[in-house]
Amino acid sequence: MLGSGFIARFYADALSGQRRKDTLHIVYSRSEERAQKFAAEYRLPYHTTSIEEAVNHPEVEVVVIALSNDLHLPAVEACAKAGKHVLCTKPLGRSGAEAKQMLELVEKAGIMGGYLEDLCYTPKFLKSLDIVQSGGLGRVLWAKSREAHPGPHSDWFWNKEQSGGGAIVDLGCHCIEISRNFIGKNIKPVEVMCWAATQVHPIEAEDNAIGMVKYANGAIGQFEVSWCFRGGMDLRDEVMGTEGTIWLNNFLRTGFEVFSAGKGGYVAEKAESNTGWLFPVGDEAHELGYSHMFTDMFECIEAGKQPGETFYDGYVVNAIIDAAYISAKSGIWEPVQLEEWRGDTDTGTTLAYTSYDAQYYLIKEEVLPDGQKKIILKDKNTGEVIRKDLEPA
Ligand SMILES: NC(=O)c1ccc[n+]([C@@H]2O[C@H](COP(=O)([O-])OP(=O)(O)OC[C@H]3O[C@@H](n4cnc5c(N)ncnc54)[C@H](O)[C@@H]3O)[C@@H](O)[C@H]2O)c1
Repeated sequence: MLGSGFIARFYADALSGQRRKDTLHIVYSRSEERAQKFAAEYRLPYHTTSIEEAVNHPEVEVVVIALSNDLHLPAVEACAKAGKHVLCTKPLGRSGAEAKQMLELVEKAGIMGGYLEDLCYTPKFLKSLDIVQSGGLGRVLWAKSREAHPGPHSDWFWNKEQSGGGAIVDLGCHCIEISRNFIGKNIKPVEVMCWAATQVHPIEAEDNAIGMVKYANGAIGQFEVSWCFRGGMDLRDEVMGTEGTIWLNNFLRTGFEVFSAGKGGYVAEKAESNTGWLFPVGDEAHELGYSHMFTDMFECIEAGKQPGETFYDGYVVNAIIDAAYISAKSGIWEPVQLEEWRGDTDTGTTLAYTSYDAQYYLIKEEVLPDGQKKIILKDKNTGEVIRKDLEPA
């Protein structure tokens, strides 16, 4: 485990909980004290203040990167050199170019590069994706994902050089990959339109942003991200298809509400209060996707397969984020620059309108309050739109 901070602890909880057979051997932290504390708490036999020592340790087969964004690339370099499989937290890089370097490093070294995008592994997300992929929603037209909270917990996130940006690179990476999964990873993201602003904090990066990602088949992915949101951590997705809709709430108000006069402690990630009506989360590591994520990663390493989220996915996400930053400045749609596209090349949509009969397309049918059925039709040849009233059945 490289890192002993916030996410390293979530990962360790997921990895050492529920009688897992995977074992954490060694933790790296630049602070001897924190490395020792982490090792003691999670019962690791070794700890170190050297990344090289951790990665090259003979008992280590897989390295988990849980370091600040600026250290992902050097950590991947160390893993490639040592020939150890590597699982890297999000965002993969601070830019598409950095992510591409990491992708090339793992592919040249012949090691697996797993992208730890936990929000694409939450139980609700996995079920939703299954519904979408089995056709339950028809053709996906729009997929929106929102992540908003009052801002991250460590200094380096607020330093643009170390983090690579603000809420877009930190939270947008989740939202973009969620929408991309629903729309279809084989569909090429082509253009981005983004608004971003620094509305509250004295920082160089954005603390609030909204963006749209246009895909080659006409579908739209929308992301809403904020470090200004008050009231905890808002994690919601919506998918709109021609045959159905999904509304998904991963965190606040998910059917578990507790009232406390304020004598308790930790409630949930980014919760702002422990007084009054609270929205705790039963098993955060599980509900945030960490358990399913590591299961997929390790099973794929054992089977020699690619996991659901790879370094290539991380690279595509970073390339979309790059375009979002350019668009936020230019104010226009900007192209997604993908040096390497591995998905479908012909993704043009053939519109299949619903026929009412030989002469008409069906636009809409509705039963009105008096029981009458109203039908709106379009003539296939003349284009005329007509209304037909059917008597109550
Ligand atoms: N849902 C998620 O997947 C999720 C959630 C939170 C954070 N993250 C990601 O995890 C990574 C770490 O974030 P965090 O929240 O754990 O932050 P953190 O500040 O709690 O921990 C960062 C770790 O990196 C180390 N570090 C920072 N600067 C360093 C330096 N110059 N040299 C050596 N070590 C250094 C810290 O000591 C610490 O161990 C980031 O890439 C972040 O985006 C992912």
